[in-house]
Amino acid sequence: MKPKSQIVDLPVYKPGKPIEEVKRELGLEQVIKLASNENPYGSSPAALEAITKEMANVSVYPDGSSVELTEVLAEHLGVERSNLIFGCGSDEIIALITRAFFLPGDETIMADQTFSVYKSNADIEGAVTIEVPLKNGTHDLPAMLAEINDKTKAVWICNPNNPTGTIVTEQDLITFMDQVPSQVMVVLDEAYYEFVTDEAYPQSIPLIDRYPNLVVLRTFSKIYGLASLRIGYGIARPEVIDLINRVREPFNTSRFGQVAAKAALQDQAFVQECSQRNAADREWLQNEFSRLGLRYFSSQGNFILVDVNMPSLTAFQSLLKQGIIVRSGFHVYPTYIRVSVGTAEQNRAFIAALENTLAESESARP
Ligand SMILES: Cc1ncc(COP(=O)(O)O)c(C=O)c1O
Repeated sequence: MKPKSQIVDLPVYKPGKPIEEVKRELGLEQVIKLASNENPYGSSPAALEAITKEMANVSVYPDGSSVELTEVLAEHLGVERSNLIFGCGSDEIIALITRAFFLPGDETIMADQTFSVYKSNADIEGAVTIEVPLKNGTHDLPAMLAEINDKTKAVWICNPNNPTGTIVTEQDLITFMDQVPSQVMVVLDEAYYEFVTDEAYPQSIPLIDRYPNLVVLRTFSKIYGLASLRIGYGIARPEVIDLINRVREPFNTSRFGQVAAKAALQDQAFVQECSQRNAADREWLQNEFSRLGLRYFSSQGNFILVDVNMPSLTAFQSLLKQGIIVRSGFHVYPTYIRVSVGTAEQNRAFIAALENTLAESESARP
């Protein structure tokens, strides 16, 4: 059997280490996972209730067009139903975009340290990824613009950027969009939209009317706390949604995902509360990093990228032994780890463990 040549050297995606695996491997009873930017407060009770009720229908295929959820989300966002598409996480929308639009040899532009799924899907389609260095951890939109040429199919802007947590402002985005040729798609990934507190952050949905080449991605995995149900969505002009829909599998979201997302949308009090807690705890963590003399990127997400002044894998392993899972291995930032903002208690445990890690590293220095 001969696979597509472009997939032969593709690395398999490494997710954050599962809690169960760490407990088993290290014989730990308590493990705190701050590695995948999940919601430490779980999800809305209304979503859990909806899932329980839906159990009776487990043997019946879901609604392939997510009609009810589409209605509720369109109303919530103030868009038409034809502006929306759902996926098995926003991961799948990324894959569908590349599947629908990318041909071998096309070029696609993204930051040099951003969400890895853009590149892996571009690779699968045989497209060429042009990586533009972040500037102070932030997308360098003028430099990205300068890379656009006749071969460019799409530009990816992760806002806030995973892993740095930085944002591009509305003004910068508009200046950029005004100069991007209309045949080049701009994908604005707003997986962490609900955590942002900076007022300069773009209100992107109204921009879809102005820019037919703009696609916005959001998800129920993060603030809505439904990561395991795999449901995310894209917002774009109907003609773009229609094209993406052509390559979508018929039943790509589950009954549980659809009913939970619908119920979760109707509990905005939960979203508000989680966002406020996250902002306060994010600030607490950042202050702790300052107290410890560590550099970090000021974050608008539910995670922070912090420089621990040692190879990130060393810090990762030291924290793991203490029952804390974080994320390491960011090639542009080899001495940084990414930590998700947890509950206040989890954050305190993380800082205590980090202090041990820093002391260990200090005492090992010649
Ligand atoms: C920036 C960004 N986009 C998209 C996703 C995908 O999320 P999901 O597929 O769970 O919706 C993630 C997940 O971590 C992410 O960090």
